[in-house]
Amino acid sequence: MIVDMHVVTDLKVLYFGTPVVLIGSRNPDGTGNLAPMSSAWWLGQSCMLGLGNSGQTTANLLRERQCVLNLAPASLVDAVDRLALTTGAPVVPARKAAMGYRYEPDKFAAAGLTEQGAELVAAPRVAQCPIQLECEVDAAYPFGGPDPHATAFQVRVVRAHVAEELLVPGTHYVDPLRWDPLIMKFCEFFGGGENVYPSRLAEGWQMPHAMPQLQA
Ligand SMILES: Cc1cc2nc3c(=O)[nH]c(=O)nc-3n(C[C@H](O)[C@H](O)[C@H](O)COP(=O)(O)O)c2cc1C
Repeated sequence: MIVDMHVVTDLKVLYFGTPVVLIGSRNPDGTGNLAPMSSAWWLGQSCMLGLGNSGQTTANLLRERQCVLNLAPASLVDAVDRLALTTGAPVVPARKAAMGYRYEPDKFAAAGLTEQGAELVAAPRVAQCPIQLECEVDAAYPFGGPDPHATAFQVRVVRAHVAEELLVPGTHYVDPLRWDPLIMKFCEFFGGGENVYPSRLAEGWQMPHAMPQLQA
């Protein structure tokens, strides 16, 4: 007989752990926007991105149909955390303001990251990110029912830039042993399986978690 170890629970958050992507997109005034996100999955040369409708990136992707997916290594966690609770949207929605979000027109300066031009799309790369994927938006679907509050973007990689030291020499493959992605797990930051940095996003979501070393 199997003893059932499960309990039925009303899970508040389903962020089980996904890599952090810094999406570079172009604002209506031509400046670059940068947004941390982690609802991303990949199939072949395409990727699905889950983005809330109130964000500036969603508006930018619907309008421009282009972006750069800059993959954040665990070593960039402090820069990613500086972007948490910021938006490139000049009008901050009440729900986000209540979580602590503020308008930030210059995300690169706020994060301490360097903007790098892309080659095929009008959206910024992040020089410090060792993997940068230039993408075209192929489709956009309303997401999150019954009243959709988000958009699922289907994007296609049209050019990939990878730091040479991450590649298996002489191949077009990333070496999984050299690539240490920053993982967002239940709003907390992980790298190499360890909880690497305190998370403002987790504070905004009032996650009942404290990093082990920060506990009294
Ligand atoms: C680590 C991390 C992961 C996030 N993941 C997502 C996500 O997958 N989808 C989303 O809509 N917002 C996500 N956010 C919140 C966005 O960054 C936030 O909505 C922000 O306003 C987007 O910036 P923008 O308004 O300039 O586009 C995440 C934030 C952090 C710090």
